[in-house]
Amino acid sequence: MDTTYRVPRIDTELPGPKARAILERDRDFVSPSYTRDYPLVVANGCGCWVEDVDGNLFLDMNAGIAVCATGHCHPSVVEAIKAQAESLVHMSGTDFYYESQVMLAEKLDAMTPGGPWRTFFGNSGAEAVECALKLARWRTERQLVISFEGAFHGRTMGALSLTASKPVHKERFFPLVPGVFHAQYGDAGSVERLLAGPLPPSELAAIFVEAVQGEGGYRVAPAGFLAELRAICDRTGAMLVVDEVQSGMGRTGRVFAYEHDGIEPDIICSAKGIASGMPLGVCIAKRDHMTWNPGAHASTFGGNPIACRAALATLDLLEQGLIANAEEKGALLRQHLTAATAGNSNVTDIRGRGLMLAVEVNDADLRGRIIQEAFKRGLLILGCGKKAVRFSPALVISEEEAVLAVNLFKEALTAAG
Ligand SMILES: Cc1ncc(COP(=O)(O)O)c(C=O)c1O
Repeated sequence: MDTTYRVPRIDTELPGPKARAILERDRDFVSPSYTRDYPLVVANGCGCWVEDVDGNLFLDMNAGIAVCATGHCHPSVVEAIKAQAESLVHMSGTDFYYESQVMLAEKLDAMTPGGPWRTFFGNSGAEAVECALKLARWRTERQLVISFEGAFHGRTMGALSLTASKPVHKERFFPLVPGVFHAQYGDAGSVERLLAGPLPPSELAAIFVEAVQGEGGYRVAPAGFLAELRAICDRTGAMLVVDEVQSGMGRTGRVFAYEHDGIEPDIICSAKGIASGMPLGVCIAKRDHMTWNPGAHASTFGGNPIACRAALATLDLLEQGLIANAEEKGALLRQHLTAATAGNSNVTDIRGRGLMLAVEVNDADLRGRIIQEAFKRGLLILGCGKKAVRFSPALVISEEEAVLAVNLFKEALTAAG
């Protein structure tokens, strides 16, 4: 695929014949727990575009759920992956050293204000959160944690215990990790009420918060909220853990979304966009906090050399202009979405930050129909929260692509309404 500006092209019925054959095989052999909204079977991708196995071309406003920050198959990232694969695929940073892992930890320290920082390497967002949970317990020697209603921190047992966005995530999985209390997102008073009642402040290990709630509906932390949580943590001696798995790595126009609020966390969880699609999740902690003993936490694959090289290439591209592009094109996308939906009584809210934008409509069925109508027109969007559609395109998005996405979205909205 080349990278020149184009329009979607749907040549077959959807799903096309090759896609249908793969879907049938998937049905029998792949876990049905995945949540696929439409039958897209991807063959290849480039920038903000993907082609399916039947040759249909789609404009992608998901970027692999906010993962392909530099676009699909950015040449610099692909080159870094190829070069590393030719010299060393795996060694295990758990037991040995290799320079790319150190380079990435140094780079993350340099890019994260308020250091010095140390980094733990895992393979996913959930693993970054698991690490943060264990580190907070280890560091404070306390057990209780607070997270927020609507939060999504992942699906492994520790992360799942913090998650509180949809019942389906937890149904039949209790008992979870004990000692987790949920407060109301955006309301520091609800944290204070927990601390004044059921939760002794001296036993609070950490507060976990998303700077922008992701799966919960692209809800931006209200001004002052993170600062209030920072003050509560300072007062109680708890760790402030910011989950930037979805909002981080330049997507909101800063490396991390919490930077908009002028606070400093103790621990940061990052994954998704950090390595442009290679599996990598990191837990970044103040150096003075990450002092646990050898063996306390580790991962065989975490921070694999290829993932580290892909991340280093990604971070260079972010610094060389993609973070600025996220801010600029995010404002443009928002402006066009606002204009395109003005006067449409089905649209109740447009919110988000940078290239993390959501359009909320007045019912969940309508949201579902919009997503299907968009797919038919060659636009890939997904839902978030109870009734919002999210836009989380690659940070390489151009003005033409942003405008095209809004035009297609508007058609889908009209057709679905
Ligand atoms: C904020 C946040 N934290 C954690 C996770 C879990 O990440 P993963 O699916 O890589 O385990 C997600 C995934 O959507 C997320 O959005």
